[in-house]
Amino acid sequence: MNSAPRPVVLSGIQPSGHLTLGNYLGAIKNWLPLYREYDCYYMLVDLHAITVRQDPAALRERCYEFLALYIACGLDPSNNVLFVQSHVGGHARLAWVLNCYTQMGELSRMTQFKDKSQKNADNINAGLFDYPVLMAADILLYDSAQVPVGDDQKQHLELTRDVAIRFNNLYGTPERPVFRVPEPMIPPVGARIMGLQDPTAKMSKSDDAVTNALYLLDPPDIITRKIKRAVTDMDNTVRYAPAEKPGVSNLLSILSATGGESIAALEARFAGQGYGAFKSAVAEAVVECLKPVQARYHEIREDRDELRRILRDGAVRAAVRADATLRRVHDVLGFIPE
Ligand code: TYM
Repeated sequence: MNSAPRPVVLSGIQPSGHLTLGNYLGAIKNWLPLYREYDCYYMLVDLHAITVRQDPAALRERCYEFLALYIACGLDPSNNVLFVQSHVGGHARLAWVLNCYTQMGELSRMTQFKDKSQKNADNINAGLFDYPVLMAADILLYDSAQVPVGDDQKQHLELTRDVAIRFNNLYGTPERPVFRVPEPMIPPVGARIMGLQDPTAKMSKSDDAVTNALYLLDPPDIITRKIKRAVTDMDNTVRYAPAEKPGVSNLLSILSATGGESIAALEARFAGQGYGAFKSAVAEAVVECLKPVQARYHEIREDRDELRRILRDGAVRAAVRADATLRRVHDVLGFIPE
């Protein structure tokens, strides 16, 4: 048996709103095969979620919902460590340390902070500003080699790398770095699914207009209706040109990522056909893609004891790795061992 340690993959989703097709195509779908090559850790980032106000009862239910959806999408808890961020104390503890190695200027350049502070102008709290440092802690705590995310998380990954390199230069040696410097893993198609009503902005869980997003738990008739009403253009040709034809290009990305055919093949297939036939094909592909996920979800969602058991087990497994990293960091900083 090969006992060399396997590289680590880590990712997470904020339990805010409801999971969208963007979260599935940009992230979860790409997580599914990775357990074969990597030790995989997938979180529900509840500490990140409270950077905007959450209703406590809704937040708790959403965490169960998201966990059940992770599993329903195909993440088997025996092959993947599934856990809640707040259950592993190391995340907040490492974030504090990394705060002291991250500059205010770096954080104020983050586009997500700028967007979110515009949307939550009455609650621009320090956590919202500090959000990327907690994310860096999430990643560095597990010596993650790869971080599978959608395109919108690229900037946070770059900051994580900068902080890791800075820390390594101060406290490590080239042979013995303190942190593993992670790489983003961004899918070629589906990394940036746009809104159906506003295809110039990404589809988002926390969108106020529910017709703009496709949710993983939307029933088939709702999915079909939303896609039929998706904004397109007057040109009536199915062609991929994001700047010129954002709506059609987005639907092409969705169809390619759910149905597996390349965008070029889809352009050829729909040449000379109008948007009606094209939208029907997109709706059918999304419904078929989500059907098994929804069926499995409804089987497992109510077994709260089992979901709790999975999270307890995940937290214990995650803490083993997280605690080892934290001890290493405290040691290089000169803290007395616990
Ligand atoms: P979050 O919760 O906004 O999104 C979760 C994942 O879904 C991807 N995603 C999309 N992909 C394609 N098209 C879209 N429209 C779309 N919307 C979202 C995101 O890129 C992400 O991969 N900060 C993170 C959560 C996080 C994290 C981490 C991720 C916290 N710690 C450590 C990786 C590693 C976030 O808010 O994701």
